[in-house]
Amino acid sequence: MKEQGTRNQVAIIVRPEIPADYEAVAQVVEAAFGRPNEAQLVELIRTSDNYVPELALVAEEDGRVVGHAMFSYVTLRGAEERRVLCLAPVAVAPERQRSGVGSALVRHGIRLAEGRGEPLIIVEGHPGYYPRFGFERARSHGIEPPSPDIPDAAFMVLRLSRYDGRYRGQVLFPAAFAVAEA
Ligand SMILES: CC(C)(COP(=O)(O)OP(=O)(O)OC[C@H]1O[C@@H](n2cnc3c(N)ncnc32)[C@H](O)[C@@H]1OP(=O)(O)O)[C@@H](O)C(=O)NCCC(=O)NCCS
Repeated sequence: MKEQGTRNQVAIIVRPEIPADYEAVAQVVEAAFGRPNEAQLVELIRTSDNYVPELALVAEEDGRVVGHAMFSYVTLRGAEERRVLCLAPVAVAPERQRSGVGSALVRHGIRLAEGRGEPLIIVEGHPGYYPRFGFERARSHGIEPPSPDIPDAAFMVLRLSRYDGRYRGQVLFPAAFAVAEA
């Protein structure tokens, strides 16, 4: 699918990653975060049961990977244990940041998640960025972070059409997420 960048109207394509992208994805993710941890997280999720291939997205521009967003499953433990989607990580190549690539990836993933009938998406991220997509503080909907070290404002939920108030409790991240802590 074609998405338009918001700033300089660069045409980018957002599509699921394929094995031929993995090396370029690792480079983009490491460059975006300035350390290898999040690229390792991507690889650990990819080889886990929580991986959702159609929701591991690359943004391609002129045949080059310039961004990546991964939506995968985490556990929401309340009255029952449910699998819910979590967006982590999102990365855009430093030289292509702030031109709409990240937004295109997040919006595309949200549409796909809605189409799959997912009830919600969790994100731990910058409170200045994610509310524009509809993310709200998770705690105000009874969804607690995996650790008290995560500030309330940074732990967010996007409620989709299939959401209902039973989706409450504590989010548990898979052990792999520890690689990207702090
Ligand atoms: C955060 C990131 C994914 C955003 O992607 P992007 O393509 O640069 O963002 P977009 O062009 O879609 O959106 C630009 C907007 O995001 C805001 N933004 C970008 N990075 C931000 C950040 N770290 N915190 C808050 N806002 C941010 C910009 O201020 C801009 O806002 P404006 O349109 O109101 O001026 C990208 O900057 C990135 O890879 N950063 C490094 C890795 C990272 O921090 N990942 C996210 C972890 S939560």
